[in-house]
Amino acid sequence: MTTEKIELMDNLQNIVFLTLFFGVACAVGQQEQSEVQSEQDTSITRETFGTMPDGTSIYLYTLKNANGIKARITNYGGILVSLAVPDREGKLSDVVLGFDTFEPYLGSHPYFGALIGRYANRIAQAKFVLDGVDYTLSANNEENHLHGGFQGFDKIVWDAEVIKKGVSPLLRLHYLSKGMEEGYPGNLSIQVEYRVTEDNGLRIDYRAKTDKTTVINLTHHSYFNLKDAGASEILGHELMIAADQFTPVDDALIPSGEIRSVVGTPLDFRERVLIGGQIDMDNAQLRFAGGYDHNWVLDRQGSALALVASVYEPTTGRVMEVYTTEPGLQFYSGNFLDGSQIGKGGVPYQHRSGFCLETQHFPDSPNKSDFPSTVLEPGSVYTQTTIYRFSARQ
Ligand code: GLA
Repeated sequence: MTTEKIELMDNLQNIVFLTLFFGVACAVGQQEQSEVQSEQDTSITRETFGTMPDGTSIYLYTLKNANGIKARITNYGGILVSLAVPDREGKLSDVVLGFDTFEPYLGSHPYFGALIGRYANRIAQAKFVLDGVDYTLSANNEENHLHGGFQGFDKIVWDAEVIKKGVSPLLRLHYLSKGMEEGYPGNLSIQVEYRVTEDNGLRIDYRAKTDKTTVINLTHHSYFNLKDAGASEILGHELMIAADQFTPVDDALIPSGEIRSVVGTPLDFRERVLIGGQIDMDNAQLRFAGGYDHNWVLDRQGSALALVASVYEPTTGRVMEVYTTEPGLQFYSGNFLDGSQIGKGGVPYQHRSGFCLETQHFPDSPNKSDFPSTVLEPGSVYTQTTIYRFSARQ
């Protein structure tokens, strides 16, 4: 069989799988749509962004709402390439780190703007036991597994289609992760929808189904800098996290299993405080991570969307609120950035020039029976919704 035929077969299999799971009948046909305009003047346009080494075309989708908020997303890794939001004067500018062109995304970078899966964060020793069976995952973070392995969802080409539904069109991405990919059991069919809402939110809806019991933990890994998209450090941003507790880690950032109170620690963000206020305090948790790189146990109850964090940048007035259905939030203060990544406009991303707020289940849950379960059974649907919503204060 020729390579083209094999690819066609693969695509057909994917489509059959997706159709069975989601009733999505004509994913490919709709890819050719170049612009969708709704009553509210929300639009999605598509342009070519680059080409994979095997010749596959990669696209850049621009999602825009009536207020001018603009999100540019590529189907490579589901990466948010740029996000323009207004400051207190109404001036729109980019607030995420990344690259101007496609090629650097193929190189090594710390998950800028990407979708993360199958399992966001760390799994200790790259191993877990499920239904009495031992599974060994790719060990891509020393002896541990991080963010889905060597080729996680941040490095795959997603099928993309533009859907006009309600007032805001959305970008729908699909991926079929085959059984045992990076060591995980089950064929996992994943759908992620990005949309820009009329109230200035970037909304991400995730859904997944499996044909064999597996584990799953999906998230989004944008590095935000509400002041200047990474030209300066983020220590002057003020952060609130609605959490009384966090999951302490060891020096490899693996949780011990304990759920600890934030009271009296530099991880207390219950009231809005400066990110830089206590980041260099002599504290074992901060020392292990070189700053903040921890999972907060959110106070939220039930499964509805809830406000779990907000960030304020005083010089521009920009505010970002985070709403999610997830039980945990990883706040990472960009401690591993060291100036070696040259980003948009030639800006070297220095230490702590971006922060991530990754909504998620807790790290290493497959090995921690007391943590909320990340097991997905055949016949059940995994869902997660997160909204990053922007406004400005005088
Ligand atoms: C996550 C991890 C961090 C780091 C970054 C990428 O936020 O928790 O430790 O790996 O991704 O550099």
